[in-house]
Amino acid sequence: MPPGSSTSRGDMALSSAAMPSQTTTLASTCCSRPARPPTLLERALSPIDPLIILIVLTIVGLPGAIRAQFSRLSPVSWLNPFRWHELILANGFGYILAQSNKNWEPVKRPLLASARGRVLEVGAGSGENVVYYDLDRVESLVVLEPFAPLRTKLEAALDRTGLLSRSTVVPLGLDEERGTLSRHGLAPASFDTIVLVQVLCSIPNPKSHLDYLQSLLRPGGEILVFEHVASKHQPARLIQQLWTVPWKRLVGGCEMDRDSADWLRDVGGWSHVEILRPKDEHRADLMPHAVARFVKA
Ligand SMILES: C[S@@+](CC[C@H](N)C(=O)[O-])C[C@H]1O[C@@H](n2cnc3c(N)ncnc32)[C@H](O)[C@@H]1O
Repeated sequence: MPPGSSTSRGDMALSSAAMPSQTTTLASTCCSRPARPPTLLERALSPIDPLIILIVLTIVGLPGAIRAQFSRLSPVSWLNPFRWHELILANGFGYILAQSNKNWEPVKRPLLASARGRVLEVGAGSGENVVYYDLDRVESLVVLEPFAPLRTKLEAALDRTGLLSRSTVVPLGLDEERGTLSRHGLAPASFDTIVLVQVLCSIPNPKSHLDYLQSLLRPGGEILVFEHVASKHQPARLIQQLWTVPWKRLVGGCEMDRDSADWLRDVGGWSHVEILRPKDEHRADLMPHAVARFVKA
């Protein structure tokens, strides 16, 4: 099924009748058409986009990393490149997420405003997405975030938005043992909405968790997706595969060449599938996105 296609004509009706405001707004920033050809400049610059992100990450993360090294004054730690990398990521990644959030606000806001009832956000990071939730629609929120340096910011963001009192912050990843997750509230058929924003790129072996995620939804519940995914176009896909080798080691396991939205669609058991992409993207983009909604039958 191509991006943007729906499981039936009835499903298209659901999309426009049941959620008119979100659909209208999302329609102004997203579409299902193939991406446009890149300009010459875009074609020349897109292969080095990941390098630019790594340079920015290092510039932003380095001062905090140096401060952390001074606070311990351990020669072993100073000479350990893995420790430097860990500290730069801990101090700089929040900034990268905040910049990404600024860029994609016009897409994420209408998508996430439709989250309702009992909501699970997986890999919530520093909490960039919580501002998009409609407090009148979200009854309670469970957020999974295994990376401690981001969790402090996440809790502060929940507090600022007034969601903290109805939130449970779980310091675990989706790959944690299922019984443990269940004890933290991830019970079968217990969620109305599951939010996946730029997270399936980072979870180890994501395909093995998709059935599980669907099982957590009540019938009629939905998964909302904003993920960067594998390009549909060569040679961008090939360049993504090459970049993924260093990128996943440097950026917390993130892989650029995952067909995350297509994998979710292929799980089956959906009454409605809608996979779009941001209108502005071009064929040479190394971080093309899927903006998607999957409603459980
Ligand atoms: C690219 S960041 C996106 C963060 C956030 N969703 C956002 O949009 O700002 C990926 C997030 O996935 C989290 N993550 C990594 N492995 C995970 C796992 N196994 N389960 C859940 N989250 C995970 C990381 O800690 C990080 O916060």
